[in-house]
Amino acid sequence: MEDAQVVGTAENSACGDVLHLYLRIEQERIERATFKTFGCAAAIAAGSMLTQMIEGATLEEIQQLRKEDVVEALGGLPPMKLHCSVLAEDAIRAAVRDYKLKS
Ligand code: FES
Repeated sequence: MEDAQVVGTAENSACGDVLHLYLRIEQERIERATFKTFGCAAAIAAGSMLTQMIEGATLEEIQQLRKEDVVEALGGLPPMKLHCSVLAEDAIRAAVRDYKLKS
């Protein structure tokens, strides 16, 4: 996203996959969310679902979001791929940190 105000980057230390979450925020609400990942299919699915889940949500609401919520919204992930959803949760935390630093 070229006009992102906030970027949250998360890396999975086990596999080295990376997810960047880009946000536009208007009055404490996520106006637009996109992502870019160097990751597996599960990480791509989690990133895509994450952006759908957080658009329109408040900053407070997205801080409540957990990796389990993303996995449930996806209809589940194979047990060996559950860790891939951690990128989504970590990217939110990083994005919120970035927002607070810039505010
Ligand atoms: Fe690395 Fe899925 S295998 S995030």
